[in-house]
Amino acid sequence: MTHTNRILVFDSGLGGLSILNALRASLPGREFIYASDNAAFPYGLKTRDFLIARVEAVLNALVEQVQPEIIVVACNTASTVVLPSIRDHFDLPIVGVVPAIKPAVAQSSSGVIGLLGTPGTVNRDYTQQLIKDFAKGFNIVKVGSSRLVEIVEQALRGKSPSQVELSSILAPFFEVENLDTIVLACTHFPLIGEKLVSAAPRPVTWVDSGDAIARRVESLCGEATTNKNPLFNSSIQVIFTQAENDNCALETALNNFGCGNISFLTM
Ligand code: DGL
Repeated sequence: MTHTNRILVFDSGLGGLSILNALRASLPGREFIYASDNAAFPYGLKTRDFLIARVEAVLNALVEQVQPEIIVVACNTASTVVLPSIRDHFDLPIVGVVPAIKPAVAQSSSGVIGLLGTPGTVNRDYTQQLIKDFAKGFNIVKVGSSRLVEIVEQALRGKSPSQVELSSILAPFFEVENLDTIVLACTHFPLIGEKLVSAAPRPVTWVDSGDAIARRVESLCGEATTNKNPLFNSSIQVIFTQAENDNCALETALNNFGCGNISFLTM
């Protein structure tokens, strides 16, 4: 039994809110539920085997509780590993977020592209295969940063990122001549997109996955029913896998994305 028009958006932390933003803009009339496996955050430093077992276990509990029509795995780190196994396991449409290599190739004139993700994502076989399939002959400069994920989580809780630190994370891209495009291959990063733009020493094109994912989900959804359910107009429900120390900062962050109504998953 699933709830028509209910879309579950899942990430390790708050990064999936960048995808939720794009989904809400394109798909009014749907009910979104945001879930974060904050107990196992960050995913970027976890092994493949851990992620396969963990994501399946968390999604099992979420699907039972939420009964969504569609699951969006709004996490590149998880999607580049777990998509085949969870698609086998669940009888539901599952949309994954993977590095936007193909759109970046279409935008780059120089043929030199930066790939900014977690250490897990940039080193994954899945990502290598995307590069082989869609970026033949392109020079792909990879930077894997788990620190940047942490910076975004703190920024959402009110701690402004240091421009100096952001510049040093981005520095390897700008040591390469002619690099003209950077793929934000972690859903956390677009959430501080403007800060990244100002920390870059010269202008480049920044590419993320939000709009492409929204189009994909839109193509899977039926027509939105005109829903009289008051839940559709209230703030988005958020489910965490564990409680946090500073709930106040977290609530403020979530309210900025139309989310509130926090609960915790029993597994
Ligand atoms: N938001 C996740 C992604 O897109 C990564 C965060 C993490 O390392 O847990 O890759």
